[in-house]
Amino acid sequence: MSTTPDVPEEAWSGVHRGPLRVGEWVRLVDAKGRRHNFCLEPGKRFFSNRGHVEHDEMIGREEGFTVTASTGGEYLVFRPLLSEFVVSMPRGAAVVYPKDAAQIVAMVDIFPGADVVEAGVGSGALTCSLLRAVGPRGRVRSFERREEFADVARRNVTQFFGGDHPAWSLTLGDLAEALPASGEQCDRVILDMLAPWECLDAAAGALRPGGIVCAYVATTTQLSRFTETVRVHGGFTEPQAWESLVRDWHVEGLAVRPGHKMIGHTAFLVTARRMAPGQKAPMKKRRPAPGAYGVDYTGPRPDGIPLEVPADQPPSEESAG
Ligand SMILES: C[S@@+](CC[C@H](N)C(=O)[O-])C[C@H]1O[C@@H](n2cnc3c(N)ncnc32)[C@H](O)[C@@H]1O
Repeated sequence: MSTTPDVPEEAWSGVHRGPLRVGEWVRLVDAKGRRHNFCLEPGKRFFSNRGHVEHDEMIGREEGFTVTASTGGEYLVFRPLLSEFVVSMPRGAAVVYPKDAAQIVAMVDIFPGADVVEAGVGSGALTCSLLRAVGPRGRVRSFERREEFADVARRNVTQFFGGDHPAWSLTLGDLAEALPASGEQCDRVILDMLAPWECLDAAAGALRPGGIVCAYVATTTQLSRFTETVRVHGGFTEPQAWESLVRDWHVEGLAVRPGHKMIGHTAFLVTARRMAPGQKAPMKKRRPAPGAYGVDYTGPRPDGIPLEVPADQPPSEESAG
C-alpha cells in the first residue's frame, strides 16, 4: 500500500500519485518501444500480438512495473505524462507538439493566474499545457469554429484532467468575431490556425498593454504573412520568429552520437507584445535586406518601406515617390 499522498485535487494537474485506479489511463511500452494507452477497467483484458494482460493485474499497483503478456513479452507500465498523452489521444486536427507547447509556455510567458485566449482548439493538445500553466485560478478561453473538433477537444481535455477544468471555457465560433463580441480582455492570445493574420485585429482589441500575441504556423508563407501583418498593424512590438529543433542522442558505451531519427520540422512561432493604446512601436533602425520588399514581394507592406526598383530599370514616378 502506498504512503504517498495524492496530488491535491484542487491543483487540477491531471496527475495522480499512488496505486493505479480504475478509470485511469496507463501506458504500456514493449521492448521495441511500441506504445499502447488505455483506460483501466476491472475484469477487462488488453490484447496485443503478444497475447493479453489482465487489467486486474495492474489495478492497485504503484506505476513503474513490468507485466508479462500471456504468450510472453514484457511491458513497462506507467501513467502517461502530458507530453505522451497529447500525441496518443484521439485527434480531430493536427496537434501542437510537446516541444512547441513547451516553447509556448516558456516564451509566451504563461503564468499561474494568466488569462489566455487560444484558437482554434483543434484536438485540445495545447489547451492541456495552457491549463496546466495557468492553474485553476487562471483562465483559458478556447475558440473553435468547427463543432466536430470542439467535441474531440472537450473529450480529450476532460479525460486528461479527470473532469471539467474550472479555468477552461470553450466557445464555438470564429475568433475574429467571437472574441470582440465577448468584450473581455486577456493577457495572451495564441493563434494556431491556417490564417492567423485574419484574427490579429481581434487579438489586438482584447490584449492588455504588455500582453503577447503568438502564432504557431507550419509554412514559411504563413510565417511571412503573419509577421508582416503584425508590423503593418503598428500596435505591437517588432515580431520575433523562431523554430525549435530537438534531436535525440544515442548514448551507449563508446557509441555516443545523434539519433538517426528526428522530427525535423513541426512549425514556426511568432510573438509580439501589445503596445499601450495610441502608442506605436519605434520603426526598426536597420534597413531591410536588399530585395526584401522588392517587386516580387506582394504581402502586407509596413509603413515607410518604399517600393524597390530593380537596378536595371529606371524608377517609375510611383516608386520614385
Ligand atoms: C491545427 S488545429 C489546432 C490544434 C490545437 N492547437 C491542438 O494543439 O490540438 C487548427 C484549428 O483551428 C480552427 N480554426 C481555424 N481558424 C479559426 C478561427 N478563425 N477561429 C476559430 N477556430 C479556427 C480549425 O477549425 C482547427 O480546428
